[in-house]
Amino acid sequence: MKLVLILGCLVTLGLAQDAINPRRFPSSLRIGVANAAPQIEGGWDADGKGETIWDHFAHTFPERIVDRSTPDIACDSYNKYKEDVALVKAMGLDHYRLSIAWSRVLPTGYTDNVNQAGVQYYKNLFKELKDNNIIPMVTLYHWDLPQPLQDQMGGWLNESIVNIFADYTKFCWETFGDDANWWITINEPKQVCQAGYGSGVFAPGIVSDGILDYVCTKNVLLAHAKAWHIYNDLFRKTNKGQVGMVIDSSWYEPGSESDEDKESAERAMQFDIGIYGNPLFNGDWPAVVKERVAARSKLEGFSESRLPILTDFEIDYIKGTSDFLGLNHYSTLLINHTAEAPIGRPSFESDKSVQYWHRPEWTQGSADWFFDVPWGLRKFLSWLKKTFNNPEIVITENGFSDTSGTLEDDKRITYLEGHVSACLDAIYEDNVNLTGYTVWSIMDDWEWTGGYTSFLGMYKVDFNDPDRPRIKRKSADYFTGVMKKRCLVDEDKCVD
Ligand code: NOJ
Repeated sequence: MKLVLILGCLVTLGLAQDAINPRRFPSSLRIGVANAAPQIEGGWDADGKGETIWDHFAHTFPERIVDRSTPDIACDSYNKYKEDVALVKAMGLDHYRLSIAWSRVLPTGYTDNVNQAGVQYYKNLFKELKDNNIIPMVTLYHWDLPQPLQDQMGGWLNESIVNIFADYTKFCWETFGDDANWWITINEPKQVCQAGYGSGVFAPGIVSDGILDYVCTKNVLLAHAKAWHIYNDLFRKTNKGQVGMVIDSSWYEPGSESDEDKESAERAMQFDIGIYGNPLFNGDWPAVVKERVAARSKLEGFSESRLPILTDFEIDYIKGTSDFLGLNHYSTLLINHTAEAPIGRPSFESDKSVQYWHRPEWTQGSADWFFDVPWGLRKFLSWLKKTFNNPEIVITENGFSDTSGTLEDDKRITYLEGHVSACLDAIYEDNVNLTGYTVWSIMDDWEWTGGYTSFLGMYKVDFNDPDRPRIKRKSADYFTGVMKKRCLVDEDKCVD
């Protein structure tokens, strides 16, 4: 008993790892890999594809991409998709998360101009997956807004995007409804809005921190909800699938047992994940977000809160529109209380006002916020269960990023083992309704502003070779073995 208590404390302090869970994966848990069109396809203007905000961003502001690279060719999956599917097959995975590039099928963003060559590309990819018995998980929007929609109407800042996006999703369900039935509307809206229209570090690079990023947040939620209603009314019966949104966050662990630190960590969760999750699963903005942004806006001299109001109609319209909660999760950080950020220039981070830190002994990935802390994922899943009334949860991304690109990627293996084990703990010990786990990624890709300098693939891609060969890393063999046993420990020790 004493030992259990001590271990429990050590784990909470981040000083010990949980033991690897020996249970066999439940049959309800699908395991797969993820990637996204703008990061792997290349063919940025091939066969009628339109320009996206990320094509434009990389071409116009090369200095904003660490290695001044572009997604023009990336992994060349536009030509090599069969090879990609073969890798997924060889690893024995259940599903493949891909995204449809809006501007490849509708180059201007509107449904009056369909690019048949683009449609055919995805038809071919779906066929390849079907022939290989791999379930497609399809993201409809992975950050790649058609550039004309940004130029003509300000993209996600204009409420018209709600109808335009809904039309695009309807087009996809009409066109690809026989090919897939596991759908994600929007990937990581926090990055779309807070990074794209707030800090401006991501495309389209609009800087309006704490102001227009919240406008984007509202539009994204309404666009998602409208798409879900269309699916629910017109396609659910025949498609028999699920539609969800993918939200992302680190787990924020209180930096101490103090009430102030606990409150700060909870506030960080509500700002980072609650701002999307609460409207979807509970209705309306999280109270703490609503109160703080309103109070700070007033002190700053705004006549209304910078966080747009959700009307009763909108609250109702958005609530209950995610059939599952898609979660992208990579890291854990510790949170301490800190003095209220000074009133002055508004920003999302000042609205949140917390202090982040980490334990020096945590294994770090490619960024200053990226650490291998599996118990954080387990706690996160329990928090989601409690906060959003036990939703079905699908982990749509999880994986280890490094800057070396080494083929001997033991750190990635340790990370994956720990995180899958945390999922098993969550399922078997904490009764979390977790039905999917997806590794980012099968192969290296174009990592947005990180270009080709951080690597997450179980296969390396040689971006200097025009042929873009995929080269196996140690983690690919490890994960193939895991898929064979559907268990993390040796077969004879696996618990059925
Ligand atoms: C989240 C994003 O959805 C994905 O596009 C990105 O590559 C991964 N994080 C890894 O950085």
